[in-house]
Amino acid sequence: MNHFYSAASPTNLNELVQTAIRLKKNPTQHMDLGKGKLMVLLFFNASLRTKLSTQKAAMNLGMQVISMDMKDSWAWEFEDGVTMRFDKAEHVKEAANVICRYADIIAIRSFPSLTDKETDYSDQVINNFMKYSTKPVVNLESAIRHPLQSFADLLTIREKVQKPNPKIVLSWAPHPKALPQAVSNSFLEWMHRAGHNVTVTHPQGYELHPEFMTGHTVEYEQEKAFAEADVVYVKNWSPLSQYGKVANQSEEWMITKAKLDKTNHAKLMHCLPVRRNVVIADDAMDSEHSAIYDLAENRLHTAQAVIYSILKGEL
Ligand code: CP
Repeated sequence: MNHFYSAASPTNLNELVQTAIRLKKNPTQHMDLGKGKLMVLLFFNASLRTKLSTQKAAMNLGMQVISMDMKDSWAWEFEDGVTMRFDKAEHVKEAANVICRYADIIAIRSFPSLTDKETDYSDQVINNFMKYSTKPVVNLESAIRHPLQSFADLLTIREKVQKPNPKIVLSWAPHPKALPQAVSNSFLEWMHRAGHNVTVTHPQGYELHPEFMTGHTVEYEQEKAFAEADVVYVKNWSPLSQYGKVANQSEEWMITKAKLDKTNHAKLMHCLPVRRNVVIADDAMDSEHSAIYDLAENRLHTAQAVIYSILKGEL
């Protein structure tokens, strides 16, 4: 039984990409595969794309789906041996064992607290659930990784850039709130597994966790990083060094069409949601550079490839 947790989860990444391409051409060709099976989605945080794409992906394979807003359920305890006298009503051990009696696949979204780096980087919610789960678990964005997003990112790059060694840039951009590092961490992890080196550009102090930087380089000058870029992937993340804080809101880092026009006709990518004219200017969002809606559509096809592979026992 394989969980879909990180870039290391797929046994054969190229086969998984080919499965997504094949399913995209005819999404309902395997409607019998999931017949009589249930996928349960647990959302500890808000979602638009992940909720819709994963549900539709499971339904395209004939599965039934139950999506739970965990704000309406019991608060979970994760520590073992605790006297549960306070606000936590249910241990993850019971929750996982019970859900596994009902579901064939369980998917979980749980963001970081952004108050306790050590706990966040232990990926407490999903790791503890996987510890007790007897069924495959899909990561719908955990505290430090968003593998379904990154798989869609990879498929979109394969579709849009027809060259073996594209220049891929990951650019930080400003945001008024402190955001997780999960999308950026995962993007780098998946690009590395796919054999791509990424140029990461961000202000000083916004260095990502070294665990995810293997094979990639930092260029602190955004203009230099963008030169000859084929892909510009944009994301805000909050600094590890001032954990959970907003240390920089410089508008100079916002993505504009003028910046993209100086690249090698770069495709603009962002996972969404995005704050227009804060992270990316309208003229870039609505330009010929944008691959943003195609990327969002690919969330469906890649999620379906993952669920298909789990149902087939081939992940
Ligand atoms: N990109 C993404 O995960 O979108 P949602 O947060 O809306 O699911």
